[in-house]
Amino acid sequence: MSDALKLTILKTLATDGTIENTAVAFKDTSSETVLGALKSLESHEMVSYQILTTEVWTIEPEGQDQIESGSYEARIFQAVPAGEQGIAISELKAKFGAAANLGQGKGFKNGWIKKNGDNIVRVVDTIVDQTKVDLEIVQATGTHESKETIKDLKRRNLIKQNKFFSYAVAKGTCFSTELKKQEADLTVEMLKGDAWKSAEFKQFNFESLGINPRGGHLHPLLKVREEYRQIFFEMGFTEMPTNNYAESAFWNFDALFVPQQHSARELQDTFFLSDPLVSGELPDIWETVKNVHEKGGYGSIGYRASWSENEARKLVLRTHTTAVSSQMLYALAKEPYRPAKYFSIDKVYRNESVDDTHLAEFHQLEGVIVDKNMSLGRLIAFLDVFFKRLGISNIRFKPTYNPYTEPSMEIFGWHSGLDKWVELGNSGMFRPEMLRPLGLEEDVQVAGFGLSLERPTMIKCGIRNIRELVGHKVDLDTIEDNPACRLDKRTFIEVRQAAE
Ligand code: PHE
Repeated sequence: MSDALKLTILKTLATDGTIENTAVAFKDTSSETVLGALKSLESHEMVSYQILTTEVWTIEPEGQDQIESGSYEARIFQAVPAGEQGIAISELKAKFGAAANLGQGKGFKNGWIKKNGDNIVRVVDTIVDQTKVDLEIVQATGTHESKETIKDLKRRNLIKQNKFFSYAVAKGTCFSTELKKQEADLTVEMLKGDAWKSAEFKQFNFESLGINPRGGHLHPLLKVREEYRQIFFEMGFTEMPTNNYAESAFWNFDALFVPQQHSARELQDTFFLSDPLVSGELPDIWETVKNVHEKGGYGSIGYRASWSENEARKLVLRTHTTAVSSQMLYALAKEPYRPAKYFSIDKVYRNESVDDTHLAEFHQLEGVIVDKNMSLGRLIAFLDVFFKRLGISNIRFKPTYNPYTEPSMEIFGWHSGLDKWVELGNSGMFRPEMLRPLGLEEDVQVAGFGLSLERPTMIKCGIRNIRELVGHKVDLDTIEDNPACRLDKRTFIEVRQAAE
């Protein structure tokens, strides 16, 4: 901000007492520049000011054209020769295009011309081009004394209204013609001498929002993940190690009693690794797993189809984090019995066609509860509490099928923002055919559930296309700006709209 303008304002006030209108006093300086100087002076209470608004009419391009070449009606009149014959309407059209109609209409109204068959003839000998005269008045003065004229010119898109701001300025309580530099800090140097006595200090601005720190920002997915992780910890869960993206089909499918002929294993759903193609040795329980698949046991008749070790050794990008849960249960079964609660939130991969809500990789949130008295009722009760903590207070279940759970339930949640039931995840009681070969005793029951992290995050962020959340189309500003907020609270979009 230039001090010169501020000084001029102060000097003018010193001699004149007030400035009635800055648009008159400083007509060569823009209104914004004047306002900047006034705001700065006002913050030191050197001046006070009021806003004056002036409404000014300016000429539109079509109006400018009519000032230069005459109004359409005048142009038409000039084109009509004097005498009985006049000119053919078609000829006027050819000459003036769209302006012909407008000019003729106004010419009839003014009583300058009239129709004679297919021709236009003059009614008067001379005219005064009032439209042009009126436009010139508006151009010179910014307005016109006749409201009717203004209305008419505006209707014809020849003029438009503009607002200009200027200011009336008076002396403030700390008025002076000198600009004193304000100190931002009390320094050691000032304290050593007397400078601090006469120094003027800048006021603190408690309204200031401050500058956002430059630096890394958590991706919305990671924010939500962190929030959910904390909920799991609060509820007594232990985090599972999910650092292996590639698992053997054995842990991803076979140990979970997923038949080797199951369609989910096929190429269209699962990414198989080509190098290395297979895992190392299978764990010691492989023969028990083979048996339960082929022949059954624990009250089951099995799949009655042959089970191949080679199939089980194939390496896959894990299609669900249940591939980790199965190994955790296997490890747990090796120890003396204890109840356990495990969770994980990490990436899984499915060979799906990509669309607005699907990518070939996503995050899964998974929970497993091991207990002697675990039941479907307890799982439902648990999920009720769990989802309430996530901010979803109304959930319901639908029976479904999973090879590794029976009964199995899809979980739906009522989303009041979207005003509909949204599918949240999948759950169930793990089957004995899965648990017993892992080494868990007959009286130990295990419940599990899984959901995607992307879905609640998209709902929270108000994102409809998953590609705006993950991948190269992500808007980095959104990553920086989005606040962390709960599903039950407002969505990011609502927060943003409320802030505007
Ligand atoms: N693995 C299931 C899925 O991918 C989720 C699930 C986990 C279901 C545990 C039941 C028990 O959808």
